[in-house]
Amino acid sequence: MHIQTINTQPFNDQKPGTSGLRKKVKVFQQTGYLENFVQSIFDTLLEKEGLPAGATLALGGDGRYHNREAIQTIIQMAAANGFARVLVGQAGIMSTPAASHIIRKYHTFGGLVLSASHNQGGPQGDFGIKYNMSNGGPAPEKITDTIFEKSKVIASYKIATLSKDADLADIDIDTIGITVFDDASSGKQFTVQVIDAVHDYADLMQELFDFSAIKKLLASGFKMQFDGMHAVTGPYAQEIFVNRLSAPASSLMNCVPSEDFGGGHPDPNLTYAEDLVKIMFAGEKALDFGAASDGDGDRNMILGKNFFVTPSDSLAVLAANATLVPAYKNGIAGVARSMPTSGAADRVAAKLNIPCYETPTGWKFFGNLMDAGKVTLCGEESFGTSSSHVREKDGLWAVLFWLNILAKKGTSVEQVLMAHWAEFGRNVYSRHDYENIPTDAANSVITHIKAQFTSLPKQKFGAYTVKTCDDFSYHDPIDGSISNNQGIRILFTDGSRIVFRLSGTGTEGATIRIYLEAFEPDTKNHHLDAQVALAEMIKIALSISQLVEKTGRFAPTVIT
Ligand code: G1P
Ligand code: ZN
Repeated sequence: MHIQTINTQPFNDQKPGTSGLRKKVKVFQQTGYLENFVQSIFDTLLEKEGLPAGATLALGGDGRYHNREAIQTIIQMAAANGFARVLVGQAGIMSTPAASHIIRKYHTFGGLVLSASHNQGGPQGDFGIKYNMSNGGPAPEKITDTIFEKSKVIASYKIATLSKDADLADIDIDTIGITVFDDASSGKQFTVQVIDAVHDYADLMQELFDFSAIKKLLASGFKMQFDGMHAVTGPYAQEIFVNRLSAPASSLMNCVPSEDFGGGHPDPNLTYAEDLVKIMFAGEKALDFGAASDGDGDRNMILGKNFFVTPSDSLAVLAANATLVPAYKNGIAGVARSMPTSGAADRVAAKLNIPCYETPTGWKFFGNLMDAGKVTLCGEESFGTSSSHVREKDGLWAVLFWLNILAKKGTSVEQVLMAHWAEFGRNVYSRHDYENIPTDAANSVITHIKAQFTSLPKQKFGAYTVKTCDDFSYHDPIDGSISNNQGIRILFTDGSRIVFRLSGTGTEGATIRIYLEAFEPDTKNHHLDAQVALAEMIKIALSISQLVEKTGRFAPTVIT
């Protein structure tokens, strides 16, 4: 092993967003781009606490284009920066929740997850990287801010040549096993261990859920379909649903991961999971249960027979029924949801007499609450739900949770929701995304809304009156940190809300998200389509923001 220090020039655009650094593959392929960012992460860690003896790094990605090359580079940089061991997923693949589990199970110092989540892949698509801490969760803002500062002034990075033979420079990441490299100059050793992350993850799921009840349900004529969207969860779904729960192989679709996700957009929603949606909305022929997960396996979409479960409702249903699952049979400590997520979970928490926390968008804000034992379940409206079994959202976990509930209740998905709304009322909810808008136009929409902060309160819009509006700030109750500018909230006197946010994960132009919510206590309106029930709210949002006038866009790109 031979360690080199390579001089480099800083890039000025390595600011991590909602979930790590995401850029076009072409940006990541620039000489030194990945190396600079990884070195900035390592420098931040070294400066903060230094590396303990024997420090291990977990490493894996969602298998997208450029994953393999990046893995090789990162292994060499980890060796040069003093890590004693890298645990890498076989073929360089680990779903985001599996990576979180591996970090926790093997007590690694941290982990690097290579993913741009639900963003498109392939040579023209996106690539991404994020650092997770020893608790298995995404690095908090104070760390990502330091990483960005370091990336702006970086002058060199360290990389090791692990083989004397340049032709064999690549490390075999496809064969399970251990390779040890000696550093003659320091006398230390560096180990690369290729692991089967699928088995570890499936074992964890089997510990949490009632597999025998789910197995019985699947053997009873209940028909399910899981859509892996050509992404990372394919092998996990095969192991869990087919090998362990005896579902027929035909209940899986698009479960062979590909570097460009089959040319698709691996985002499990009604727009991009269209093959599954067709199957689940086929009238009488529709199956009982459908689910999909995203590029890196942390998101989930849940469908019943001709029925869509909004992620906000899903979190509330999971919280209300948690005691049906072995892992949560004694109840849950609390719930947390991101600010734009509907208040449905709050109603369940109130009834269960447990706390409900409201955090900014992004999973990194849940970590402290879970570490402190304040919450067990967390969720975001963006198809993310999970619990303290890991420190990431977890797509397959949510699917198994739903199957566990259905197995125990013996009712359909739609019946579960109708009963839930009858008990708690319905928080009618929708999100409208306007993607790829020129940055200036998007900023002018936000500035225009903020300029009305003093004039909006008490204003009437049809049946609705504005109560307050603000830009959401979060005070972390555990570490006292403050995160400002987390989204504009317009709250109405009857509890309805409109939230405006700019996306922090896109790589082209800007995306404006409008989140709409109205509370409907009356059961006779519970069957209404959300777009119909929210029609007036949608008009108010467009009138306050002047979005059409300022962007020239007449309709959202994606409605969820
Ligand atoms: C989006 C979602 C957010 C989620 C993030 C990562 O971020 O809205 O809830 O945590 O992806 O999956 P955004 O693009 O809105 O910043
Ligand atoms: Zn994801």
